[in-house]
Amino acid sequence: MYREIDWDKIDISVEPPIEEPARQYYFMMKCREWVQVFVKESGRRPTACVTTFGCQMNARDSEKLRGVLREIGYDEGSEETADFVIYNTCTVRENANTRVYGRLGQLKPRKKKNPGMMIALCGCMMQEPEVVEKLKKSYRFVDLIFGTHNIYKFAELVAARMDSGRQVIDIWKDTDQIVEDLPNKRKYPFKSGVNIMFGCNNFCSYCIVPYVRGRERSREPDAIIREIERLAADGVSEVMLLGQNVNSYGKTLDVPVTFAQLLREIEKIRGIRRIRFMTSHPKDLSDELIQVMAESDKICRHLHLPVQSGSTKILEKMNRRYTKEQYLALVRRIREAVPDISLTTDIIVGFPGETEEDFQETLDVVRKVRYDSAFTFIYSKRTGTPAAVMENQVPESVIRNRFDRLLKEVQEIAAHACSVHEGTVQEVLVEELSGHDKTMVTGRLSNNLLVHFPGEAKLIGSYVKVLLEECKGFYYIGKKSE
Ligand code: SAH
Ligand code: SF4
Ligand code: F3S
Repeated sequence: MYREIDWDKIDISVEPPIEEPARQYYFMMKCREWVQVFVKESGRRPTACVTTFGCQMNARDSEKLRGVLREIGYDEGSEETADFVIYNTCTVRENANTRVYGRLGQLKPRKKKNPGMMIALCGCMMQEPEVVEKLKKSYRFVDLIFGTHNIYKFAELVAARMDSGRQVIDIWKDTDQIVEDLPNKRKYPFKSGVNIMFGCNNFCSYCIVPYVRGRERSREPDAIIREIERLAADGVSEVMLLGQNVNSYGKTLDVPVTFAQLLREIEKIRGIRRIRFMTSHPKDLSDELIQVMAESDKICRHLHLPVQSGSTKILEKMNRRYTKEQYLALVRRIREAVPDISLTTDIIVGFPGETEEDFQETLDVVRKVRYDSAFTFIYSKRTGTPAAVMENQVPESVIRNRFDRLLKEVQEIAAHACSVHEGTVQEVLVEELSGHDKTMVTGRLSNNLLVHFPGEAKLIGSYVKVLLEECKGFYYIGKKSE
């Protein structure tokens, strides 16, 4: 587990060590020297801003980048003024890419005015060769480009850029390495994401993630437990275990461990009060896990269970490896064991070959399961995935129409499903002052619903019993209950 780095012991007059993470500490030291020169010359510390696109996995990676930047000596700045801007990109849908190019375009004039400014791009989009080609050709002003597999080498790559003064590009195709004990900087003092595995082996036919995140690899349970113990000692009481398919955790370890067994170990850690996880693939959700959830009072009453489509025919083409009936039966088993669970999902509309009947099956699942919320996505063609070359791509106007109908249904049901807690008293982990009203605080219930209630900043990070007075669709207004 990461401890304070003993800078006095690092000698950068010798060759860098080969082994990790010592090698990265060495390069952090090198970058520190560079930052000290900057401070001498400009009379201030340099600032950096890491902007995250995409999922919680990327958000967690960004925290690691911020940890390295802090060690190097950067202060956190805003994207508008920072000396070093880093975009941690996503490519799961085409519009994620478009947003990155848009933002990059805005950085160009700033960089022209201030040539000392640095721009780095990393994350999933960089794992696509066409993207890197385009950047090489038309975005020469980007200083540093790296991918998802070598993110742990951030310090070394920054040092390479500082040394050479030239554009540095380093992308790996895949890796089987997991480097532990690197710094990170949490967004919240009281909750944290924890990677339990990386990559994905499922190859859902629409999805680019397995290509840009590589093969599935699980962290050793000991490393996970040690990290969480240390987080708990540092004031964290809620952890979110992260993986593209947490239900297959541990299968590839030398000594295999199931996700349910891992949860049982994490439950024992003192100071941890809430355990969340995502994402669960329905095909791998075991009865053992359902039982652990039912017996636990730390595992949150929330399960994100992406269905993607309600049509067995489409599910098969998506390579999801479950049928509509199997999914519904799974939901029944979960609800029987954990009656107060909140279920959420992801749905794709307009997958190639989706007919109106297929879409009706999706609506049917939505009506039967009654999700507390659902992320709905318009199918986006990802080059290199099997679905991109499937016949019968659905016309945009048809998709739009189905998407609008789905959204309406999802929202109506969600508002209803959420309102069932009205009038009850429940525990809220207070996260921040309300965006709109500084006399209010905002927090989350075990089931992940948001609650706003009158309170002060000193409540942040604590658990408060709140009477849920009024449901406003997807959040509650409440008051402290003593
Ligand atoms: N590993 C997770 C999800 C990762 S991506 C899982 O299996 O559930 C998050 C969501 O993006 C997916 O659940 C899916 O609904 C959506 N998604 C992925 N690829 C997509 C594509 N090509 N077009 C539209 N939505 C997509
Ligand atoms: Fe993509 Fe499927 Fe893997 Fe999720 S499980 S990341 S949707 S391939
Ligand atoms: Fe996007 Fe990569 Fe996550 S493609 S959704 S940031 S794993």
